[in-house]
Amino acid sequence: MTEPAFAARADELIARVERVLAERLQSLPATGSKLAEAMRYAALDGGKRLRPLLVYATGEALDLAPAALDAPSAAVELIHCYSLVHDDLPAMDNDALRRGRPTVHVAFDEATAILAGDALQALAFEMLSEGDGAEAPHSMTAILARACGVIGMAGGQALDLKFEGERPDQAAVEDMFRRKTGALIRAAVMMPTALRPELAPARREALARFADAVGLAFQIRDDLLEIEGDTDSIGKSCDSDSSRQKASWPILFGVDAARARIDELAAEAAEALTQFGENTEGLSWLAERLLNRRS
Ligand code: IPE
Ligand code: IPE
Ligand code: MG
Ligand code: MG
Repeated sequence: MTEPAFAARADELIARVERVLAERLQSLPATGSKLAEAMRYAALDGGKRLRPLLVYATGEALDLAPAALDAPSAAVELIHCYSLVHDDLPAMDNDALRRGRPTVHVAFDEATAILAGDALQALAFEMLSEGDGAEAPHSMTAILARACGVIGMAGGQALDLKFEGERPDQAAVEDMFRRKTGALIRAAVMMPTALRPELAPARREALARFADAVGLAFQIRDDLLEIEGDTDSIGKSCDSDSSRQKASWPILFGVDAARARIDELAAEAAEALTQFGENTEGLSWLAERLLNRRS
């Protein structure tokens, strides 16, 4: 029997990762604590779960069963959820609404200290994983750790804060986007490749190029949605970037140019999938959904 199209299975895969997350979060050792409650609030009941879908879709392209990918899929979503909780903090974007609900505000105030802590923790994981065998540089732990750390998401968040009120050029803004948002999206796509060490380098690189293009375009779309969308559909504030003088792509370089840049990156992503080869129906559908999203 042929597999149903990825689109038809997306809801089922979302339910799958949500079950994995719920099971783990419901059985935290400190189950009754306020901290455990906040963790469940941040990670359950919300979000589009696009990164887990990317993990499963890449797995499909690599002929890996979903069961082999539940851990990386849940892990990348947990990192994403934590990045959103920090991103919304008063010391960072100071946002009150996320996923259509009040944000989880924890009483931290030194954004840089928080980010440095995150990056150091990620670095520790990365170093640990590098010591654990021949495949370590490509292990899922190493891929995810690098994506969260000082060269990835935490580093990008630090640049995002530094650029507030500045007018960085397009290359600098895109470098920041590739880190703060693209790195985790790339990790979602690249983690499954760790389970296929025999994958030809050219095909691995094609997947990386796909993920890079999608990750960058995803953040440009996010900035555009803040201008063109409404709070009800995006579930967050529509004046966060402008009021904080963020380095928003469309604010700095224009709305039409932003749309054109997304189209250009979508074409790059499609081209990379062609170079990768077969079984990319899921990735191709997801890229389309990520880049044309309205929420
Ligand atoms: C929002 O990401 C934050 C960015 C990195 C642009 P998503 O749009 O994937 O957020 P959720 O998970 O669906 O809430
Ligand atoms: C989110 O960037 C990136 C991370 C959380 C790592 P933004 O600050 O642009 O995203 P939203 O608009 O708050 O979701
Ligand atoms: Mg931010
Ligand atoms: Mg924000």
